[in-house]
Amino acid sequence: MRVKFASEPASAITPPEIYAARRQFLQGSAALAAISLLPGSALSATAPSLGPLRKSALSTNEKLTPFSDVSSYNNFYEFGTDKDEPAKHAQSLKPRPWTVRIEGEVQKPRTFDLDALLKLAPLEERVYRLRCVEGWSMVIPWVGYPLSELIRQAEPTGSAKYVEFITLNDAKQMPGLNSRVLDWPYREGLRLDEAMHPLTLLTLGLYGQVLPNQNGAPVRVVAPWKYGFKSAKSIVAIRLLREQPVSSWTRANPSEYGFFSNVNPAVDHPRWSQAKERRIGEFLKRETLPFNGYADQVASLYAGMDLRKHF
Ligand code: MTE
Repeated sequence: MRVKFASEPASAITPPEIYAARRQFLQGSAALAAISLLPGSALSATAPSLGPLRKSALSTNEKLTPFSDVSSYNNFYEFGTDKDEPAKHAQSLKPRPWTVRIEGEVQKPRTFDLDALLKLAPLEERVYRLRCVEGWSMVIPWVGYPLSELIRQAEPTGSAKYVEFITLNDAKQMPGLNSRVLDWPYREGLRLDEAMHPLTLLTLGLYGQVLPNQNGAPVRVVAPWKYGFKSAKSIVAIRLLREQPVSSWTRANPSEYGFFSNVNPAVDHPRWSQAKERRIGEFLKRETLPFNGYADQVASLYAGMDLRKHF
């Protein structure tokens, strides 16, 4: 399976947006970021706001990737394999009504609609680095709460060891499903302790607004110490499992895409060095950090494991 590399967006070299300046100001002055008051020019004119939001202490202070790039340079194969296709085609996705089932090794299987998900726990802003296996990265102000809050609601049994995420599988809404580039529906997985880790975010928005369709509306997962493909978009089911699930990418090419896929500059992908990355909007490449810079928080999850073998 070859992942195509499209050219970078024209706006990748634009100066920081007003949002970034406003955010720096809020960082210094207030815990509550009144994102809904931001100048509309930086954001979608129509997307509902999720603010005001508390900014998580787990956020990075790095410069944000402009909203225009975050929402136009995407990987979402259900809408095409080129970077600009999700933004062009994802308007056919209907993020409402929407439900997410939690099932499998749980005492209480549950189904949540979107309003219930939005109210389940306090939404916060989490600014995370996103590192794609293709060698580019972004800094994105996600909105959500720890995935553990949702999983706990279903009361996992003692046998639950893994969590599988399953994306919507509806060719009427997702034209890319008609092409067999992956074995649909898109599936990804985490070990249960990874899924319950405080960094793992059930994500309902970005830049203070609901998720743009092309970024995985209305709900996705973000595990920032892993390559971006682990962060499944437009999730309809979360399954607690005894056995390690096989993700879509591993099924497509097991020698290239491992289950763990922790960002690791010391282990190259067969076609791409992982030692450096190109931050969208920057000219020079920068060093890629172990676990994408989150080693202090997550390295202990892998104590004693050979991460070359468990790539
Ligand atoms: N989820 C689904 N359902 N389908 C996809 O094609 N692509 C993954 C991930 N989640 C993908 C997906 C990849 S390869 C990356 S890098 C990130 O989404 C990109 O997220 P973004 O477009 O919001 O930056």
